[in-house]
Amino acid sequence: MAQNPIIPPSPDGDEYAKAHEANAAEIFTREDPFALFGEWLDAAKAKEPNDPNAMALATADRDGLPDVRMVLLKDFDPTGFVFYTNTQSAKGQQLDDNAKAALCFHWKSLRRQVRIRGLVSRVSDEEADAYFHSRHRDSRIGAWASKQSRPLESRFALEKQVAKYAAKFGLGAVPRPEHWTGYRITPIHLEFWRDRPFRLHDRMVFDRKSTDLPWTVTRLYP
Ligand SMILES: Cc1cc2nc3c(=O)[nH]c(=O)nc-3n(C[C@H](O)[C@H](O)[C@H](O)COP(=O)(O)O)c2cc1C
Repeated sequence: MAQNPIIPPSPDGDEYAKAHEANAAEIFTREDPFALFGEWLDAAKAKEPNDPNAMALATADRDGLPDVRMVLLKDFDPTGFVFYTNTQSAKGQQLDDNAKAALCFHWKSLRRQVRIRGLVSRVSDEEADAYFHSRHRDSRIGAWASKQSRPLESRFALEKQVAKYAAKFGLGAVPRPEHWTGYRITPIHLEFWRDRPFRLHDRMVFDRKSTDLPWTVTRLYP
């Protein structure tokens, strides 16, 4: 039979068995989703070829039309999951209209997924400043130069903007632009998914109606 171009050949048996072995340890006794997330992120850092902190961020515009794009997780703790961006970008405007979002991590090398839904707030100026100043100087200048998600006439026009701000700041400090900050997603729902043999996957959900309530933990059919 001809090979289907969409479906790859079955994974190498050894690699598959190893992932399944790692995915067999008990997780359904856990009470703290943040600790479990931390363990999975650490495992991803050890195995993923790049960007283990990459996550899909889903937002909806004021008409309810969903949008999704990748961003990088820069911090997390029990108050939520933080990423940084331009507040005037499409996602920034969508979050102004509807301060709710969903995140999805997929670590292929681990055969694991984490889904998060929650309420969004901006981080404090102090927190955004601290992260902004930890970035490479060229990235800080880039934050000034990029009118993220708006039309750009040419690559040269972007390079001109970069040169303009590099000259403006010279050798001095590059302050954080007002239009650049972090957003924190405080979860009310998290789901941990692990690949298990024959598509009989594990799914574990942490749910709470509001952020001040304790979690209920539920196992779901795959
Ligand atoms: C792996 C990866 C990580 C990314 N991380 C970020 C990020 O942390 N912040 C950001 O603004 N854009 C990031 N981007 C670019 C976004 O996916 C997107 O193109 C940009 O933010 C504009 O999105 P918007 O028009 O929906 O606002 C990343 C893209 C990829 C592929």
